Amino acid sequence: MELDPDVLTPAQNYKLMTCLVIPRPIALVTSIGPSGVVNAAPFSFFNVMGSEPPIVVLGISDRPEGSPKDTAANIRRGRQFVVNLVSEEIVGKMNVCAIDFPPEIGELSAAGLTPTPSVKVAPPRIAESPVHLECEEIQTIAIGENRVVMGRVVQMGVRDGLVDPENLRVRSDLMHLVGRMHAPSWYTRTGDVFELPRQTYAQWKANQAEV
Ligand SMILES: Cc1cc2nc3c(=O)[nH]c(=O)nc-3n(C[C@H](O)[C@H](O)[C@H](O)COP(=O)(O)O)c2cc1C
Repeated sequence: MELDPDVLTPAQNYKLMTCLVIPRPIALVTSIGPSGVVNAAPFSFFNVMGSEPPIVVLGISDRPEGSPKDTAANIRRGRQFVVNLVSEEIVGKMNVCAIDFPPEIGELSAAGLTPTPSVKVAPPRIAESPVHLECEEIQTIAIGENRVVMGRVVQMGVRDGLVDPENLRVRSDLMHLVGRMHAPSWYTRTGDVFELPRQTYAQWKANQAEV
């Protein structure tokens, strides 16, 4: 089947993009609003785009009437944000942060999540999250109804016990991160893993010879 996004409706394109590209990691992003209120919202149009320097990207769609979501507006204004990764333990609370609360209600307190100071940026981390990436905005590009936010990671915070300080080995089996699956509301755990070692050309050639 071939599908041309130019002839599909926006809703059809959303459905296809969010159901075909799975799983997606989830960034629970904290930023600071104009009155100083801490804002928290989840984004699964999110990933790491490089490591030197460390870069993350968020895809934030505009609201139906065309205004930017609070996270996009806050990042443009304050140029800083924190990506808090989402574990099974806090996935229900993450979902509360996606509610379209009126501006006077802070998502963190409504969800029962705890802000804790960041090391290098003004927006706080979420204490219950196992991994925090403190970011500074590099650039935001408006493409149609999307704002693609590029951020440089300036500090990483990881819960004690998840990274071996000697060799930086990460205990992903203890992080219990979740991923977003098909729309509208399916998720996956990250515990079902398998190993596939990367091969050199010489190893690949030797394996071919054996066959
Ligand atoms: C798991 C999950 C992932 C989401 N991913 C995105 C996303 O990638 N882009 C987006 O614009 N909205 C996404 N949303 C919806 C936003 O979280 C929601 O619109 C939120 O209210 C925006 O808050 P803000 O106005 O405070 O920024 C997602 C919602 C959920 C539950």
